[in-house]
Amino acid sequence: MTVPVLTIDGPGGAGKGTVCARLALEFEWHLLDSGAIYRLLGLKARREGVDLVDEESVTSLARELAIQFTPTSGEDLVRAWLDGEDVSRAIRTEYAGRDASLVAAIGPARQALLDRQRAFRAPPGLIADGRDMGTVVFVDAPLKIFLTASADERARRRHKQLIDKGVGASLADLSAEIEERDRRDRERQVAPLRPAQDAVFIDTTGVPVDEVIRQVRLLAESRQLV
Ligand code: DC
Repeated sequence: MTVPVLTIDGPGGAGKGTVCARLALEFEWHLLDSGAIYRLLGLKARREGVDLVDEESVTSLARELAIQFTPTSGEDLVRAWLDGEDVSRAIRTEYAGRDASLVAAIGPARQALLDRQRAFRAPPGLIADGRDMGTVVFVDAPLKIFLTASADERARRRHKQLIDKGVGASLADLSAEIEERDRRDRERQVAPLRPAQDAVFIDTTGVPVDEVIRQVRLLAESRQLV
C-alpha cells in the first residue's frame, strides 16, 4: 500500500507552517517542511560565500548539503541542523526567506533535493508543506490543499510572528518583501508556485486556525486517509 501524503502548498504567510505542524501532531504523521530545506541551502550558500544565483555552485552545494531535522517539543516541532550546527533560528529570518527564494529558483538545485524530500514519505503518512508539493514532489498525493490568504493578512501574520519572537519589523517593509518573494516564487521557470489541478482551495483570510484544521481534517476523513 502506498503511504498517504497530504500536500499543503501556498504563498508565504498563508498559515501553512502552523496548520501542517498541528495536523502532523493530530494525525501522528511525519512532517516535511520543504521551505526549511531551501532556507538551509540559502544559508549554506551565504556561509560559503557563493553567489545565490550561481547555478552551478548552488547546485553542487545542494547535492552535498549536510542537513538534519530532529523533533522538539517546541512550536516549530523540528530543529534544523546544518553541518552539525543547530540553525533553527538563523533560517527563520526574513533575510533567510529571501535567500531561500533565490536559490529555489535554480532548477538543477531543486532536482538535487527531490529524493531527500520524497524520503520523508513513510508510514503512517506525511504532511508536506511547500510550494510544489502537489505539483512536482508528490504528484500522486491523495489530498492536495492550496492555502491562501489576502496579501494584507499574510503580511500582518508575518509581522506578528516576528514581533512575538522579539524581532523588530516594519509592516510596510514586510509587505513589500512578501510581495517580491511571492512574485519570484510564482514567476520562476521551474516548479513555480501554483495550485495543482486537483487541489482544494482554502482561503484562510479571517479564518481561525482551528477552523482551517477542522476543514482539512474533514477532507482527509472523507477520503479515508485517517
Ligand atoms: O515556506 P518558506 O517561507 O519557508 O519557504 C522559503 C522559500 O523557499 C520560498 O520563498 C520559496 C522556496 N520554496 C520553494 O521554492 N519550494 C518549496 N517547496 C518550498 C519553499
